[in-house]
Amino acid sequence: MPQKYAAGNWKMNGLVSDLTEVLEIDKGVQDLACNTVICLPATLIYAADGDPRQVVEIGGQYCHPSASGAHTGDISAEMLSEAGAAFVVTGHSERRTDHGETDADVRAQTEAAWRAGLVAILCIGETLAQREAGETLSVLAGQLKGSLPDGATPENTIIAYEPVWAIGTGKVATPEQVAEVHDALRAQVDPEMSLLYGGSVKAANAAELFALTNVDGALVGGASLKAVDFVPIARALA
Ligand code: G3P
Repeated sequence: MPQKYAAGNWKMNGLVSDLTEVLEIDKGVQDLACNTVICLPATLIYAADGDPRQVVEIGGQYCHPSASGAHTGDISAEMLSEAGAAFVVTGHSERRTDHGETDADVRAQTEAAWRAGLVAILCIGETLAQREAGETLSVLAGQLKGSLPDGATPENTIIAYEPVWAIGTGKVATPEQVAEVHDALRAQVDPEMSLLYGGSVKAANAAELFALTNVDGALVGGASLKAVDFVPIARALA
């Protein structure tokens, strides 16, 4: 069986004082059978590393393909690892849009994550225009083929399906839409690889998504910032 993951992505949110929420999340998920990961802004990773967490693991949100070099403002997978991350998000649609990251870039970042011993949470997702044009499955298959490197295993990679139109909009994909995509993805990856859904996941809609056969958890944005919102999502999974 694929591992279950309740993963949070804080995006560009949070100061050191907000790390108390990670500790609250940690308290709330102690008894759960799922894995819990919070992907923090890079500035918070080292600070969180000193905190007395028991079960919550920490991730980054992006890594450069190189280990070091003249890349002002960038961060390497090795740096994230040293700071205390065990995971890193690659290919998030906000990075693909804001920074023009291509499938080839995401592939190189994912390989960099593995080089540093990080688990990659590789994101793919279609836009509303692509969905309305009936291109969802072909777009996702193309992104997967282009951005998932050879050598992906259930131990080094998690796939997150995040429809762009559902991110931060309050419009969660229907269980039918998620099932169609996840069933198609399952046929394209290792049967043990975890497949997460992301896009406006909340406590109110988590249980019906997690009931789907090929949904192994969620990558949660806004509702991961506060323990009061995130813990019930993790509890719906475990
Ligand atoms: O990576 C998580 C994500 O993009 C979903 O964000 O705020 O819709 O849960 P949100």
